[in-house]
Amino acid sequence: MPANTVTLTDTAELPEALIQAFVSAHQIAVLTGAGVSAESGIPTFRDARTGMWARHDPMTLASPQGFEQDPATVWQWYQWRRQLIAETRPNAGHYALARLQQRVPVLTLITQNVDGFHQLAGSDRVLELHGNVHRNVCSVTGKVIEADWMEQHSEVQPPPSPHHPRGRARPGVVWFGEALDSDLLDNAFTAASNCDLMLVVGTAGAVQPAASIPVLAKEHGARLIDINPDSNELTRLADWHLVGPSAKWLPTLVDELTATD
Ligand code: APR
Repeated sequence: MPANTVTLTDTAELPEALIQAFVSAHQIAVLTGAGVSAESGIPTFRDARTGMWARHDPMTLASPQGFEQDPATVWQWYQWRRQLIAETRPNAGHYALARLQQRVPVLTLITQNVDGFHQLAGSDRVLELHGNVHRNVCSVTGKVIEADWMEQHSEVQPPPSPHHPRGRARPGVVWFGEALDSDLLDNAFTAASNCDLMLVVGTAGAVQPAASIPVLAKEHGARLIDINPDSNELTRLADWHLVGPSAKWLPTLVDELTATD
């Protein structure tokens, strides 16, 4: 860890310089990953290998090739993940980010998560880089398939697509090997280039292009806060590393800002 990263473990001791970085920021960008939903009980993508899914490789299940080879298995895996998400709720970290958005002039929330919890907690204009698991799209055209069409079809097989004779319904998420939506990515890069402060929350920073977003922010002069119980490549860039769960740190930060009013 470079000497210029300040590591904090105690929420009771927030440095004045960190508070000032929030207070003086005109534009804040936030990048979230699976860790922000961990305390809601959603297993991270790599941890989601329990029960009957333990013998399946998520890298195969979440790929166009995997879907091509065994559409029913991939579909059932996503139905299971959708069910898990439906049974859980956003946590204090998601709610704190929604409150923060109401307090700063511009806050762009960029997420790699597909659970929709930021919106459920009240965040607005969320850039969902990897899509949303609740959405279904046509496997050939990529067009969104409406819920009422889905309701008429079986849960076991991916239903046929209403948009193309060879298409099937598939989850509206970005699979390994697929490109991200270029407009979304442009918006995320623009937010990173323009922000004064960037929060990196609960991501291992191992998946591109999302992992390059904080790097861009840093190159353009933003201060960086990493919130994560562990360290990774992105932590090395951070001005502050807040060690611990985001459901603890994010409400603390937002409460502290409220107290400075
Ligand atoms: N609070 C904050 N961070 C946490 C917490 C927590 N309570 N619990 C775990 N973490 C951190 C872990 O230390 C790790 O750095 O969250 C990170 C989760 O890493 P990954 O599972 O790799 O998730 P993510 O970085 O979001 O992965 C990016 O890769 O799996 C694909 O497409 C999927 O969107 C996903 C992408």
